[in-house]
Amino acid sequence: CGIVGYAGRNAAAPVIIESLKKLEYRGYDSAGVTVLGSGVETYKAVGKIINLESEIPKNLKGAIGIGHTRWATHGRPSTENAHPHNSGGNPVKISLVHNGIIENYMALKERLIGEGYEFKSETDTEVIAHLLHKHIYGSPDGKEARNNLLAGLREALKEIEGSYALAVISADEQGKLVLARKDSPLVIGLGKGENFAASDVTAFLIHTRDVIFVDDFETAVLTPDSVEIFDREGKLKEKKIEKIEWDFEAAEKAGYEHFMLKEIHEQVSAIHNTLAGKVSELEGAIYLKELNLNDDEIKKLSRVQILACGTSWHAGLLGKYLFEQLAGIHCDIDICSEYRYRNPVMHEGTLAIAITQSGETADTLAAVREIMSYNCPTLAITNVVGSTITREANSVLYTRAGPEIGVAATKTFSTQLILLYLLAVKFALVRGKLSPDYVKSFITEIRKVPGEIQQILNQKEVIRECAENFACSKSYFFLGRHLSYPIALEGALKLKEISYVHAEGFAAGELKHGPIALLDEGAPVVAIATKGQTYEKMLSNIKEVKARDAYVIAVANINDTEIGKYADVVLRVPSCDELLAPLLSVVVLQLLAYYTALARDCAIDKPRNLAKSVTVE
Ligand code: G6P
Repeated sequence: CGIVGYAGRNAAAPVIIESLKKLEYRGYDSAGVTVLGSGVETYKAVGKIINLESEIPKNLKGAIGIGHTRWATHGRPSTENAHPHNSGGNPVKISLVHNGIIENYMALKERLIGEGYEFKSETDTEVIAHLLHKHIYGSPDGKEARNNLLAGLREALKEIEGSYALAVISADEQGKLVLARKDSPLVIGLGKGENFAASDVTAFLIHTRDVIFVDDFETAVLTPDSVEIFDREGKLKEKKIEKIEWDFEAAEKAGYEHFMLKEIHEQVSAIHNTLAGKVSELEGAIYLKELNLNDDEIKKLSRVQILACGTSWHAGLLGKYLFEQLAGIHCDIDICSEYRYRNPVMHEGTLAIAITQSGETADTLAAVREIMSYNCPTLAITNVVGSTITREANSVLYTRAGPEIGVAATKTFSTQLILLYLLAVKFALVRGKLSPDYVKSFITEIRKVPGEIQQILNQKEVIRECAENFACSKSYFFLGRHLSYPIALEGALKLKEISYVHAEGFAAGELKHGPIALLDEGAPVVAIATKGQTYEKMLSNIKEVKARDAYVIAVANINDTEIGKYADVVLRVPSCDELLAPLLSVVVLQLLAYYTALARDCAIDKPRNLAKSVTVE
């Protein structure tokens, strides 16, 4: 999602609309604007910003305003679910826009409904509007403010768990805009007689390049002539003014050269968002209420059937290993374009899981329709709220990775994996295959993954150097065993998709049954050799490869002192639970593909012949 705010002397609506158009790449299923005119005036529309534009009266007055372009996470794209969300009945008192996820919104919503607040949307954001109203006016009918807007907001935020960038306006405090941030980006732009706020600088780059980045737990008050920032304790804070040198195109990518690189980096926050509200370390519990299966039904499952294409199929293949190894449930996986035509045999007690980042892949939808014709309950794992699959499957789990613009899937893949881990561990727990204590330690470990990915990203120059050295190779091989086998396939696919180098992924044990004939002097072979049950076997495979004079690039743990004896280059990942190592190795392979494509001067975000979602069979 993208949020914007404006405090100036000109009509706010056209400035906000123009800013929202610049943020449209962050999400585009619905949009809305509120301005402080004679009262709080809100306009919303489903679809692109131009739809919203046509809803707004031409001469709308009001020089303070907020706007939002939405990428749905809670609730379908609709006018009711579009931001801004308001509170205060008639007349409206509070209006706000939000980017982020409120994890405890269900509990807060129930409480506020009990206190008489009426909800118009299914969003987590509306909770903040009513909670804020309550902290200012005391009750749904309260007319007299007991707190000012900033103080009320600070009180409300104490009750909120989750992430937020917020811009808020109040009918009773004309002339100002209030902001808050935790774990979602927020930046202030400084103009002359006008100030701006937005999720990123692209929104207001045509007005100003002088900015202040808001940090976590800070709040801010903007008027046309002033910007005040407060720390966690509410004390006024001096902040550095920075000058943005990027052009618009670079700014849209947050300074990264390509969306793909930006999205590889965003895996840190994306995984955090996927996990939000789904795991409790303290209780050793995994909450997947969207699954719509109770414990009894989970116990009775005899089989999981995974359906997917492309990168999502690789995620599914790892899922198969996890469901069988952890939960002891038989799991089949099919490529969707094959599934429908092979007369599948159906089993009692099967759960179908369709994995598709876009939710629109025609082959996947066709396979889902096929399996649903046998009355098989179907769970969709997707990134796009309201996509076709979400309307057809019986239940949906969202990856919450945010919009992915690069055609090559990166953050949608790793967040699909996260959901598959959670499903497999949850099934294992319910079926008595894993103890609550194990699940607690699993949650501790999976929570560390974003930080571990950050460590890999901090070392990305090493991967770049390796990619540049081999950029002229004609053919690349990727080897993995066990949980790293799907990652080897994914590493090869990433490389072919964006750098147009021939690449093949193999189960390392299969090498000797054919592919080894392809190896010759200097052919780069990427061997995923993180520590785990097949580590020793992988070392043997590396030796086989070396004996054919091929060049071995190993992906190994940081504390592995042995691997250097066999491999020519070692790309390191932090030491971690072997179960979770695929989440780290894949980041190395994404970067390897990215830097190879960069060295070969390829169109990374829009590779030839490929589309982000393939809606034909
Ligand atoms: C296209 C994309 C791939 C993707 C595949 C499946 O071919 O280029 O990156 O993996 O479709 O897409 P889905 O949206 O179903 O995950």
